[in-house]
Amino acid sequence: MAFTKKPWAEPYRIKVVEPLKTTTREHRREAIKKAGWNTFLLHAKDVYIDLLTDSGTNAMSDMQWSRMMIGDEAYAGSSSFYKLEEVCRKYYGYKYIVPTHQGRGAENLLSKCAIRPGQYVAGNMYFTTTREHQEIAGGIFVDVIIDEAHNSFSDHPFKGNVDLEKFERLIAEKGGDNIAYITIGAPVNMAGGQPVSMENMKAVSELAHRHGIKVVLDATRNIENAYFIQQREAGYAHKSVEDINREFCSYSDAATVSAKKDLYVNIGGLVMCNDEELYDDLRSLVVVYEGMPTYGGLAGRDMEAMAQGLIEAVQDDMIASRVRQVEYFGNLLHQAGIPIVTPIGGHGVFLDAKRFYPHIPQDQFPAQKLAGDLFVESGVRGMERGIVSAGRNKQTGDHYYPELELVRLTVPRRVYTQAHFDVAAYYIIEMYRNRDNARGLRMVYEPKFLRFFQARFEEL
Ligand code: F0G
Repeated sequence: MAFTKKPWAEPYRIKVVEPLKTTTREHRREAIKKAGWNTFLLHAKDVYIDLLTDSGTNAMSDMQWSRMMIGDEAYAGSSSFYKLEEVCRKYYGYKYIVPTHQGRGAENLLSKCAIRPGQYVAGNMYFTTTREHQEIAGGIFVDVIIDEAHNSFSDHPFKGNVDLEKFERLIAEKGGDNIAYITIGAPVNMAGGQPVSMENMKAVSELAHRHGIKVVLDATRNIENAYFIQQREAGYAHKSVEDINREFCSYSDAATVSAKKDLYVNIGGLVMCNDEELYDDLRSLVVVYEGMPTYGGLAGRDMEAMAQGLIEAVQDDMIASRVRQVEYFGNLLHQAGIPIVTPIGGHGVFLDAKRFYPHIPQDQFPAQKLAGDLFVESGVRGMERGIVSAGRNKQTGDHYYPELELVRLTVPRRVYTQAHFDVAAYYIIEMYRNRDNARGLRMVYEPKFLRFFQARFEEL
C-alpha cells in the first residue's frame, strides 16, 4: 500500500487490557426489547463495542493512576484542589476555578447565578443538559448557529460557527439587557462535533461585549476544537494546540467543562470565570449542590487525575491521534457510501438516520430505531441524537423537530484500536445493504426531564 499522507499512531502503548465479550443476535434482540429500544437502558455487559459516549469512558494513563495515590482527601483546603487550580489557570487562563462533580453540576451553578427568570440565552445549537439547566433557571433558549450546521452533508470547515446576523437580530429585538449570555459550545456536540473558528469566536465576543452580553464557553471538548483550528484555519498551522486553546478561552468571560471528555478522566467538572462577583455567587452556591469550593463533589484523587489529564490532553500528538482515530472510522463509512455527517467531527461519527432509513417518518423515531438495530446486528452501542434527544418545547408541549436525526457513534479516548472500528464499520455497511425492512417505533413511556435517557419504545 502506498501512503498519500504520513500516517499517525497513538503516542502511547498499552499496559493493561480489559476483555470484551460477544453475545448472540437472539440475546441482543431480547436485551433491546427489555431495554425499551433505548440503548441507554441496556446493561453494559451485553455490549460488545461501546460507542454510546466519550464521556467518562476514557482510559487513564499510568501517570494519572499514580497521581491518584497522592490525592489529598482533606474536606477543606485539599492540596489536590490547588494543583488542579494551577493547571486550569495555566491551560484555560481563567482566574477563578470551581470544581463540580461533572459538567451538568457546573451548568446548574452557572445558570442559577447568571440568568434572571425571563431572560434569553443565545447559543450555537443546544446541548441537552446545558439547555435544560438554562430553562430550569428561567431562561429562554435561542439557537443562533449558522444554517450549514443543520445540513448533514455541508462541507463547511467550521459548521459550529455563530451566525452573527441571527445573533445581532436577537439583540436588536430583545435588547442586550434581556440576554443573560451567549453559550458557545466548541465543537458543537449535537451538530456532529463541528468546530467553531477563532475568527468567529472573536467576532461573537466583540459583538456580545459591545452590548454588555457575557460570553460563556462550554469548553467540554475545547481541545478538540483547538486542534481543528490548527488544521483548518489560516494563521494557526504553526501554533500549538495549547496556545490555541488558551487564546480561544480568552474571548470568553466564563466556562463550564465536563472533565469526563477532554481531561481523560471518568468523573469531574469545572466552572471557571474572571469576574469576581460571579465567582462569589458560584462559590456560595457550590456548597449547596456539590460541596466545599475546594472539592466540588469530587474526591481529592479525582482532582489529581483531572490535573494530570489536562496536561496530557493539550499535547499536540495526543489530540492529533484522538481526532484522527475518529476520522479513520468516519472515512471507512464515508468511502462505503454510508450517509454520515460531514465533515467528520471531533468526538464521533454520526449516522444520518433520515438518509439511512428514509422510509421511517421522524415521529416514528428513525435514529432511535437505527441505534437499536445496530446493537441487535452487531453488539455495537451508539446513541440517538435526533427528535427524542431534542425533547419538547416547554411553552407549547410539542416535540421539537430537529433537522438532524442522527445516531452518534462516539469514540472513547485511548480505549479501542483501529481493528475495533473496522469491525464496527463492517456491520454498519452490511446493515445499510438490508435497510429497507426496518420499521419505526412508538414511545410508550416519556420521562419529564431529558427524556432520551430513560424513554421506552415498542417496535411498530
Ligand atoms: N456539554 C457538552 C457539550 C456535553 O457533551 C456534555 C455531556 C455536557 C456539557 C454535560 O456534561 O455529562 O459531565 O454532566 N455530554 C455527554 C455526551 C453526556 O454523551 O455527549 P456531564
